[in-house]
Amino acid sequence: MGRTLITGGAGYIGIELVDELLQAGREVTVLDRLLHGQTDRADELRERGVTVVEGDIRDTVARGHALHGAEAVVHLAAIVGDPACARDPQLAQEVNVDASFALAAEAADAGVEHFVMASTCSNYGRMADPTTPIDETGVLAPVSLYAEQKVAIEQHLLGLDPAPFAVTCLRFATVYGVAPRMRFDLTVNEFTRDLWADRELEVFGEQFWRPYVHVRDAARGIAAVLGAPREQVAGEVFNIGDTRENYRKLDLVEEIRKQTDKGNVSYVQRTEDPRDYKVAFEKVHATLGYEVTRTVPEGIAELLRALDEGFFPDAFEPRYRNTP
Ligand SMILES: NC(=O)c1ccc[n+]([C@@H]2O[C@H](COP(=O)([O-])OP(=O)(O)OC[C@H]3O[C@@H](n4cnc5c(N)ncnc54)[C@H](O)[C@@H]3O)[C@@H](O)[C@H]2O)c1
Repeated sequence: MGRTLITGGAGYIGIELVDELLQAGREVTVLDRLLHGQTDRADELRERGVTVVEGDIRDTVARGHALHGAEAVVHLAAIVGDPACARDPQLAQEVNVDASFALAAEAADAGVEHFVMASTCSNYGRMADPTTPIDETGVLAPVSLYAEQKVAIEQHLLGLDPAPFAVTCLRFATVYGVAPRMRFDLTVNEFTRDLWADRELEVFGEQFWRPYVHVRDAARGIAAVLGAPREQVAGEVFNIGDTRENYRKLDLVEEIRKQTDKGNVSYVQRTEDPRDYKVAFEKVHATLGYEVTRTVPEGIAELLRALDEGFFPDAFEPRYRNTP
């Protein structure tokens, strides 16, 4: 098995993916700017035999260095999420769009055989009928710059003609769960933390549907795609998650409430973030036999346990979120 380059490999999903690939016997290079202060995490990766290139994906030299010897690329590095992209659209354009296009072109020149792009179910945006789960052939209706950029990258990569490598785009459900580089700006993690901390949790758009996937299962989905025969995954888009794991925010609160009675919840009206989508995940199951191993209630239990045990001395630290 050849070397895999993971851009953003020191991130929330990235470190879990490194772990999956090392266990599968792959050699791994990580290209990451350590935007959220993950220096300790990068050192741990080096100790485990990972080649860590601490650099910016906008930098041609860093990209060239990282691509050296890579047979596959998993492209996770990004300005992640609607708020972070809205806050600095120029940076988001440079990192998410321009650098992705440059990386793909250089990967082709470097002889990379498989390019796996981290996309998002946010691409489905606001569905006309969110009660029927949407599959990979459904209409994309992004409602944020972040999702518009992901749609543009998907279209660019899948439209390369002739295809210089096998391209697979993975539309992840919203991720949750405890991981070495923690994010508390994701719905399940944030709601659980805030109630655990006995705070007042303001929930808007409580009726809106969204799918969720555990961070380890997100990484397992990528590993499954990398391990599959190329012809099964080349030129394909897969939603990564489980159809049974679609929840309204209201449902999430109810699930957390079953496990802790701390904190208060108030439902408020706000016009921002009108994402409302219920997603079908049959394709990845039918094609690759992929199944999730954890559910949202299990993830909530895991989060509460980690918080109780003091795993995060201050779970409200800014480094646990992608915007200040
Ligand atoms: N977490 C989710 O719910 C979710 C859902 C759908 C899709 N995704 C996608 O998965 C990918 C990983 O997300 P994550 O949740 O692990 O986020 P994350 O913020 O933890 O990881 C992103 C990583 O990219 C790095 N990075 C940012 N800008 C960089 C740059 N210019 N050069 C090099 N490295 C840079 C950061 O340091 C970080 O380690 C992203 O592409 C994201 O859009 C995530």
